[in-house]
Amino acid sequence: MNFDNMCEQIMIDFTSRQVPKAEIAHQLDCMEQVSRRNALLPEAPLFYCQTFGCQQNEADTERIAGMLCEMGYTRTQDAALANVIVVNTCAVREHAEKRVFGIMGQYTHIKDTRSDVIICMCGCMVQQEHITEKIKKSYPRVDIVFGTHMLWRFPELLLRRLSGSKRIFDISGDPKGEIAEGLPVQRDEGCHAWLSIMYGCNNFCTYCIVPYVRGRERSRQPEDIEAELRQLVADGYKDITLLGQNVNSYGKDLGIGIDFADLLTRLDAVPGEYRLRFMTSHPKDASEKLFAAMANGTHISHQLHLPFQSGSNAILKRMNRGYTKEAYLTLLEQARQYMPDVVLSSDIIVGFPGETEEDFQETLDVVRRGQYDLLYTFLYSKRSGTPAATMPDSTPSEEKKDRFNRLLKTQESINQQRQDAYQDRELNILIDGLSNSKDGVYTHCGRTDGGLLVLCRGEDLQIGDFVDVEIEKTSLRTLYGRVTRKGYHG
Ligand code: 5AD
Ligand code: SF4
Repeated sequence: MNFDNMCEQIMIDFTSRQVPKAEIAHQLDCMEQVSRRNALLPEAPLFYCQTFGCQQNEADTERIAGMLCEMGYTRTQDAALANVIVVNTCAVREHAEKRVFGIMGQYTHIKDTRSDVIICMCGCMVQQEHITEKIKKSYPRVDIVFGTHMLWRFPELLLRRLSGSKRIFDISGDPKGEIAEGLPVQRDEGCHAWLSIMYGCNNFCTYCIVPYVRGRERSRQPEDIEAELRQLVADGYKDITLLGQNVNSYGKDLGIGIDFADLLTRLDAVPGEYRLRFMTSHPKDASEKLFAAMANGTHISHQLHLPFQSGSNAILKRMNRGYTKEAYLTLLEQARQYMPDVVLSSDIIVGFPGETEEDFQETLDVVRRGQYDLLYTFLYSKRSGTPAATMPDSTPSEEKKDRFNRLLKTQESINQQRQDAYQDRELNILIDGLSNSKDGVYTHCGRTDGGLLVLCRGEDLQIGDFVDVEIEKTSLRTLYGRVTRKGYHG
């Protein structure tokens, strides 16, 4: 199969990369009109959002929530009370799609008693034509369906529906690769914020639907990202995650000679007490320059999520991943040379079409040699429209599940050993919440620089504090510690 052909249409017209200011102004005007309508209501109307899938979807929901707040809506945690319900969907695995359709039944029933509720579906899943056809036919009570590319047009779509238009389906793609700047964002309260640096993906891994539903890679301008980071730090956010489907490709499309490592170094210069993380990295584009930037940075966390998907070179080739097992392991070694304390995680797919027991053993070998702190493991899910969907797949599902369980078991013992190694060590954590620990001893929870979860105890602890913690107990997923002093170490 020639994957190069798939990427042929990716060239973008660099001159028209941002959604034109007039279009953004039109959305702001639509927001103003909805807001005026809502001001006439006896009570502020409510909205409810449910998000499926990845961090990118969570960040998108924050933008939808921002627009809804600007339009006079207040957030509720109870869908039954909402005037507008938004379900932001995921298409990466079939399981997520089934869950979405399951929940839509409940939401559309709300219209039995309150027919004026507006029900919206958006995100990756609805960007697929067969899904929108199903919604058209089987979910007549869904009012607005918009894809990932049209998110910024939500105010206009909502105003149209409120003004009596028919059901709206806007899943058009975005051949120009436009980025919308200047629309509001409503972030969750707390210390943590997502910061999108780029959208889309050009990699076309053969199992993955993302490039089809999120379009080609397009990077935000570094000055826009930096301005947003400065604002986040000024607003008190302390744990900031840079987001992109493949952050290591950042800047390739901008044509201004900046790559992800350069961006990290530029952002790291923003003063303040905060941590900077990023995800996701593609091993084919991760470089020594990146590890050096991470190691030399003040704010950059020593945390690396580097999905390898499979340890078999034959499977990696059929996945179109662009690296070998050996190259990947060398990369891990390099990362650990630069950052001996790096916290490593990865994604693995078990049961890709044609995966043999020998292939799977190669995956286990990488797991053992990689010594990850955390693994995200998935059973292969066939996604229609992707090249892998037509590859022969004769392995019985029982065998795939057996491999999956063996993988979990292998990682479990590694996890425990790695957690145990933190016993009696001192770690700097950011306290980001109250713990629900049953013993009542460890009252707060937080994350280490590498992102490990720590429950802690101590006097006068406040959410948002950086503190040193001495680890006095460990479990498979959690470290437990006593706060020894306050302070941010960078
Ligand atoms: N089946 C199973 N897992 C998948 N992923 C992406 N597509 C599929 C699929 N079709 C996993 C990959 C990716 C993570 C976000 O989801 O491991 O890194
Ligand atoms: Fe999907 Fe591969 Fe792109 Fe990740 S890099 S979003 S797995 S196509």
